[in-house]
Amino acid sequence: MQTITIHGRQPLHGSIRPAAAKNSALPLLAASLLCGGPCRLRGVPALADVDTSLALLQAVGADAQRCGADICTRPADALCGEIPDYLAGAMRSSVFYLAPLLCRAGYVRLPLPGGCRLGPRPVDIHLAGLASMGAEVELEGIAVTLRRKGPLHGVDFTLRLPSVGATMTLLMAACCAQGRTVLRGAAREPEIGDMIAFLCACGADISGYGTSILTVQGGRPLGGAVHAPLPDRIAAATYAAALAAAGGDIRITSCDPALYGAFLQFLAQTGVQIENGPDWAGLARNPAVPLRGGVQLCADAWPAFATDTAPLAAAVLLAAEGKSEIFDRLFPNRFACAAGFAAMGAEVTAKGRRLMIAGGSRLRGAAVTAPDLRGGAALLVAALGADGTTTLRDPGHIRRGYADLPGEIRRLGAEIG
Ligand code: EPU
Repeated sequence: MQTITIHGRQPLHGSIRPAAAKNSALPLLAASLLCGGPCRLRGVPALADVDTSLALLQAVGADAQRCGADICTRPADALCGEIPDYLAGAMRSSVFYLAPLLCRAGYVRLPLPGGCRLGPRPVDIHLAGLASMGAEVELEGIAVTLRRKGPLHGVDFTLRLPSVGATMTLLMAACCAQGRTVLRGAAREPEIGDMIAFLCACGADISGYGTSILTVQGGRPLGGAVHAPLPDRIAAATYAAALAAAGGDIRITSCDPALYGAFLQFLAQTGVQIENGPDWAGLARNPAVPLRGGVQLCADAWPAFATDTAPLAAAVLLAAEGKSEIFDRLFPNRFACAAGFAAMGAEVTAKGRRLMIAGGSRLRGAAVTAPDLRGGAALLVAALGADGTTTLRDPGHIRRGYADLPGEIRRLGAEIG
């Protein structure tokens, strides 16, 4: 089994630039199926989930391939709506193919999507929205099949909660539906704005950018576009957390700090020194001075503290002075990494959505297992602040979202193999 080995307590120095965001690039690859012209997505990192997306696109008959650091797609004559089980099960983002395949192929069969086991992750909002636009929905066992007899039609639809994935699904569907769609209670994450920017560059008519009410004038033909997805704000927060755990000084470049402003604000509260520019953040911490804990965080939809950064914040708070608590409103099993933290000597209690951290723990290296993508990254971060050597098993989870996290942190001066 592959492992990552981390020798802790090496301060980090230098500058680092996050790659394009996984959570933008993956849905945009699916959205490219809607386009009647060629698309080029710039600087898409070599993540396991990107490889899975390329395989999925090819499996349904699309022409999608790597062009150096970019991904190029061309419209295909005919698409097939069957998503193979092994590809659907390999990532959550297979759900993004529901709307484009329904629109382009006339039907889609999606076996249960995979992804991190953060608790039940239903797709009822995606399905309810598509059904309201005229899709026939059939559930059989662990697969869902959607069909349309004629074109989808525009609707006035209220999402029961601001799901990022469902907002993207319904934006894509609304672009090919006849007439006007109004989506109320839409998610407002920056990646939604990125999808709107991409679809509009292809010729879509979408208004309401940045708000929870999005209006789409559907049925306009979509061409192609060249688009650089947003920088990865969760990767940026991961580098910031690594600095907080290990100490030193780093600069995170080519990424607007407002994209991970809530995380930077949290780090400032713990005593990390932070300086911001328009597209960079400089962070410094003297490793000899303990961080301040006593922090209460609540992860929720944008613009609140991001759920993906909750385990990273926990990793920083383990050694900080004072009791802290993190609550995650979105996912009931966000803190599966708590077992690894405990193995490293941290005093933590995970109770459902809540993680309690006693603080002030002197962490020591241990053999730990990455339970999921962000939990795995959080264990790597904790190990950077621990005495001795940590062995991190199952790093495949981390490769789903970071092309080479160990290599990137090593280039900042950490001893990671
Ligand atoms: N939900 C429903 N019904 C639905 C859809 C969602 O009940 O039909 C619930 C979910 O179960 C969850 C909440 O709504 O409790 C929020 O889920 P959301 O749909 O917003 O999340 P997602 O689209 O599945 C994306 C990211 C996640 C990120 C969340 C929240 C991708 C591929 N994934 O997931 O990223 O945590 O938004 O910001 O874009 C990750 O990168 O590791 C990751 C898990």
